[in-house]
Amino acid sequence: MNITAQIKQPIQEEMELFETKFRESMSSKVALLNRITHYIVNRKGKQMRPMFVFLTAKMLHEGKVNERTYRGASVIELIHTATLVHDDVVDDSNRRRGFFSINALWKNKIAVLVGDYLLSKGLLLSIDHGDFDLLRIISVAVREMSEGELLQIEKARRLDITEAIYYEIIRQKTATLIAACCALGARSVSDDDVVVERMRKFGELIGMAFQIKDDLFDYTDDAIGKPTGIDIKEQKMTLPLIYALNHCTPSEKSWCINSIKNHNKDKKRVKEVIQFVKDKGGLTFAEQKMTEFKSEALHLLQNFPASPYKESLELMVNYVTERKK
Ligand code: IPE
Ligand code: IPE
Ligand code: MG
Ligand code: MG
Repeated sequence: MNITAQIKQPIQEEMELFETKFRESMSSKVALLNRITHYIVNRKGKQMRPMFVFLTAKMLHEGKVNERTYRGASVIELIHTATLVHDDVVDDSNRRRGFFSINALWKNKIAVLVGDYLLSKGLLLSIDHGDFDLLRIISVAVREMSEGELLQIEKARRLDITEAIYYEIIRQKTATLIAACCALGARSVSDDDVVVERMRKFGELIGMAFQIKDDLFDYTDDAIGKPTGIDIKEQKMTLPLIYALNHCTPSEKSWCINSIKNHNKDKKRVKEVIQFVKDKGGLTFAEQKMTEFKSEALHLLQNFPASPYKESLELMVNYVTERKK
């Protein structure tokens, strides 16, 4: 059995039911929207966020989930999907999940509106059922994701991002949503604030490792279903590059900054920058940091009693840093 099948085994039933509910949660009376949402659900991603929701809930509640847990999982996956649709507009990216992105097929105008539609469907799913405690967790994540994306753009313009700012960006744009998965999974079955907060923190730490891994992919030529090597073109400074810039001579630094500022569309030059980052040990450093976040996350699980759900969560942590896409 491969690792994802193994992780999913204790939540197999929940994931199957989730898929049906998730599909239904997107439906619309507008034909164009229906065409597009069909396109989206037929090219599903790894569904790691709903997996975090169900595993957390089951670990804390003797293997039981409820309707709130299902709705929470759908809301989060809807919001995640909305942000990916918008992200591909923002990043001017034409591939997602191994196929064309929504903006590549239907253009930016439609992609922006589809993203808004998915976001509103998510929020309404919570509101219509009075899941206000869950809605609060989700809304905080949505606000932070927008702030994180904007902070990233602001810093990309100045090319002066420090390691600390990088962590703040990825915490906001990625880790908060994964934190929300675990907090929400916990909250759907438990009133214990301490446990909810511990699971939120667990999700945040694993979310940090998750985004560092995503940024490492950009430095590879691996077939991950979306473009690689586009961060420098988009003047996006991620951990490997930040490390390299902090560990080189002043003249190397000027060359590198100048390349990103003025030659970021020159493919040969971008390749040279990528090689420079590798030579300076940027990838090794980022891998190290990723492992640190991962260990901290695992540490937070220690005190929960052994169960198949806990075991899967631990496997999930390893999957995040070892995945191939
Ligand atoms: C992609 O998330 C966006 C990031 C936060 C890096 P995933 O890698 O979970 O995307 P899918 O849902 O599996 O496509
Ligand atoms: C992920 O950002 C999307 C959000 C967290 C909103 P990226 O732009 O880094 O992710 P990919 O690589 O396109 O999935
Ligand atoms: Mg982006
Ligand atoms: Mg992107």
